[in-house]
Amino acid sequence: MHILAIETSCDETAVSLVDCSGDPWKGGVNFNVLSNIVLSQAKLHAEYGGVYPSLAKREHAENLIPVLKKALELSSLESGIRNQESGIDTQKLEKILQREPELLKQFLEFIPTIEKPAIDKIVVTRGPGLEPALWVGINFAKALGEVWNIPVSGINHMEGHVFSALLQKRRDLPQLTTYNLQPTTFPALALLISGGHTELVLMKDWLKYEIVGETKDDAVGEAFDKVARMLGLGYPGGPEIARQAAQFQDKPSLKLPRPMLDSGDFNFSFSGLKTAVLYEIKKNNKFQPEADPPSRPEADQPQAGAETSKIIQEFAHEFQEAATDVLVSKTVKAAREYGAKTILVGGGVSANQRIRDALTEQTTNNLPPTTKLLLSPLELTGDNALMIAVAGYLRAALNKECREEIAAHGTLRLA
Ligand code: KG4
Ligand code: ZN
Repeated sequence: MHILAIETSCDETAVSLVDCSGDPWKGGVNFNVLSNIVLSQAKLHAEYGGVYPSLAKREHAENLIPVLKKALELSSLESGIRNQESGIDTQKLEKILQREPELLKQFLEFIPTIEKPAIDKIVVTRGPGLEPALWVGINFAKALGEVWNIPVSGINHMEGHVFSALLQKRRDLPQLTTYNLQPTTFPALALLISGGHTELVLMKDWLKYEIVGETKDDAVGEAFDKVARMLGLGYPGGPEIARQAAQFQDKPSLKLPRPMLDSGDFNFSFSGLKTAVLYEIKKNNKFQPEADPPSRPEADQPQAGAETSKIIQEFAHEFQEAATDVLVSKTVKAAREYGAKTILVGGGVSANQRIRDALTEQTTNNLPPTTKLLLSPLELTGDNALMIAVAGYLRAALNKECREEIAAHGTLRLA
């Protein structure tokens, strides 16, 4: 089954075409990635220190057609130039895309010129995310579904992050990019850590979710971004903090709090940690962040810059340690409490190597040896449309009515 997936919930315009097959109840589910394009707007949002929703909406509207074009070209699903009348109902499209005039213009210039590609199903992120950004993707999906007469369904973005942790790249097919779904035993516990969310989700079975812990204020990725800004580092802050932290080799003298570490529940709080950083920065009279510190080579920096760099590294290190301690400790406690057989970890912040290492170490040391820790492949931690395609296929394939069809054909042909 060929799925076209669209993701525009935040500041990435992402489109993926995936050939999906197999039965999740029996195993052997494969996702052959025909194309997977992620166009990041991060540089544009950097000057605002975070994502600016109306700018994100405008960029998605301008970029969706070029990104789809590229995805089709790479996928071999393109069926060539159309040489007869398309018969497209322009009025219907004008209605669907009335809020996105730029997208409508590009849509009408491109879509009627190509033959309908061999796509069986369109899926699109329906939330959570930035409302104006989400709508561009949703309306785009609806418009494509209308023109090509292909069913469209909405997918929860967080479910995409959950499933990305279940994917494993197949090394036996080097000429293709194929992921298979790793065998999963329930109950499973998912730690979802991104710019908008920090959640512990209990899965008693496929598609059965219960949030057992979440942040009471900022998401952990948001805290990484805000602390990076306080330290004069760039956006997105997570990778910058990780880079600075890795350079700190001394014994730390700074000690930041581990909020809610012993709260007795599985909730988190990162706003206090962020404020503690601000307080410590103000107390530190040697700290003078530069406007653009990472752009200058270390050797060219004046003495005061070198001292400030060291302080930045220590702040980054201790902040990362504090965030890691609470995330890992609560995950291990929740896994024990709910008897989790599998722990899934996904979302942009799960790219952090310190967090990945600490999770690996702590689950090995503190949980039964049968507990399986599955970390999202690094290239799929951030927002992407492949994870939306995976959720789209699994949602359909796990539906009992579709099972007979999979049993007969090895794949789902109908949506
Ligand atoms: O999942 P994602 O791409 O978008 C949302 O759905 O929010 O997550 C983005 C977040 C940003 O806050 C970014 O700073 C953070 O993930 N991030 C990291 C790292 N790479 C990205 N945080 C910590 N360490 C990293 N290496
Ligand atoms: Zn995300």
